[in-house]
Amino acid sequence: MAVVASFGVHGCGGAGASHRGGAQTETVTDGGLSMRWYRMMWCRWWLHGGGICLMMSEAWSEIQSVRWWVSIFNLVKANSMLGTSNHSTFLAKDSIRAKSFTRASMNVAVKVSRFNDITMAPPDPILGVSEAFRADTHEMKLNLGVGAYRTEDLQPYVLSVVKKAETLMLDRGENKEYLPIEGLDAFNKATAELLFGADNAVIQQQRVATVQGLSGTGSLRLAAVLIERYFPGSKVLISSPTWGNHKNIFNDARVPWSEYRYYDPKTVGLDFDGMIADIKAAPEGSFVLLHGCAHNPTGIDPTSEQWETIADVIQEKNHIPFFDVAYQGFASGSLDEDASSVRLFAARGMELLIAQSYSKNLGLYAERIGAINIVCSSSDAAQRVKSQLKRIARPMYSNPPIHGARIVANVVGNPDLFNEWKEEMELMAGRIKSVRKKLYDSLSAKDNSGKDWSFILKQIGMFSFTGLNKAQSDNMTNKWHVYMTKDGRISLAGLSSAKCEYLADAIIDSYHNIS
Ligand SMILES: Cc1ncc(COP(=O)(O)O)c(C=O)c1O
Repeated sequence: MAVVASFGVHGCGGAGASHRGGAQTETVTDGGLSMRWYRMMWCRWWLHGGGICLMMSEAWSEIQSVRWWVSIFNLVKANSMLGTSNHSTFLAKDSIRAKSFTRASMNVAVKVSRFNDITMAPPDPILGVSEAFRADTHEMKLNLGVGAYRTEDLQPYVLSVVKKAETLMLDRGENKEYLPIEGLDAFNKATAELLFGADNAVIQQQRVATVQGLSGTGSLRLAAVLIERYFPGSKVLISSPTWGNHKNIFNDARVPWSEYRYYDPKTVGLDFDGMIADIKAAPEGSFVLLHGCAHNPTGIDPTSEQWETIADVIQEKNHIPFFDVAYQGFASGSLDEDASSVRLFAARGMELLIAQSYSKNLGLYAERIGAINIVCSSSDAAQRVKSQLKRIARPMYSNPPIHGARIVANVVGNPDLFNEWKEEMELMAGRIKSVRKKLYDSLSAKDNSGKDWSFILKQIGMFSFTGLNKAQSDNMTNKWHVYMTKDGRISLAGLSSAKCEYLADAIIDSYHNIS
């Protein structure tokens, strides 16, 4: 039995207006009874003044059926749930197409959105800066917000090894089949070896569960879900300050976190005593999130002696170290040196988590390529952990993208490309170091106040934490067209030597003239 209902309204007081809503002829299911409904009748409602006139065509008996009235009741009910309980308003809606009435799964075009209660989200504190930058037309404008490498001409840079690897891939005519949930085997092998060193005991003993992730962020998120699932209630300790997205990641994964002291505004350096005290005070068995190198946003890293002490305390307290390695090779220019903190912990036989990213060191920002590595005390545990990471990934994104994974595997797996990558990385890290030095020189030369700017030279990696507060950072943007995050962080990767003096003027003005 098929029913197609077409609801039409004549304009109040106006005769002869054509009905709206257009009849639909469809095969529908009724309340889970899988029935084929054939077109049997037209029902037209004329609403005129206060009266309703029903004009029926065939099958009056169908109108009388219980199911038909249930359908109408449900439709009216659904409409009133949209906030329009007035019957004539309901009928005056643009169009109402009813399917499966008894399940109220109708497609209803309405003027009042059901998403009305959703408020506008604020712009992302980091990525939102680039949007504002693009809208600015000032010739001296500088985008020091996002941590992305730029050439001396302030243009995005695609590494030449990446181009070569892509040519190789194209020549081979590789397919685009799905990857397994854990990602590309060759990538997972290459990334773990790059992190620990191929001859590291954790690799030799197959104690690392490595799963390809959606870059650093996605890899952190996989680990966050694992923590939430298998260590319920455990806290993650994060540095104060930290990369803006860390808190979002743990919040969304419903992992409780608290902060440990890291930055000392008085020295614009590391508050090492505060850090150690806070890690000691945390509940036993907490996860301690550490930036493997080039701490974001401060650019302040512990010394190797300090790393030893951090490892001591973490071991004492039975905490689990969780490294975020987003800048391997980018901080010092050496892949091995930048992995030394992670290797120090692994050498102590500790279980640890490490998220990796290839956004910065291979410039693969948009490829979303990274990994989560979990070092376990046995290969058996590593296998089980890996199986659970895959289980987490499957309903999230099913399996990861292949292109970036192949690039990394090709670059790391080919000795010529690998060496060329190291040279290019040194070049990128070198350019950042040189603008860091030039900025320091300009600040020291121009600022007669006697302020010591040498903290800039002590920082490492892409970023410098200037110590400017929010009002001063606002002045940098509003007056000087220098776009940066409101915590006073600047990305030196977005600075050219030609603009160092201009930036120094902006910093000096903001520091001394804005409180
Ligand atoms: C400390 C830190 N972790 C992780 C990431 C993740 O970046 P991505 O998701 O692009 O790999 C970043 C990027 O800026 C970062 O600075």
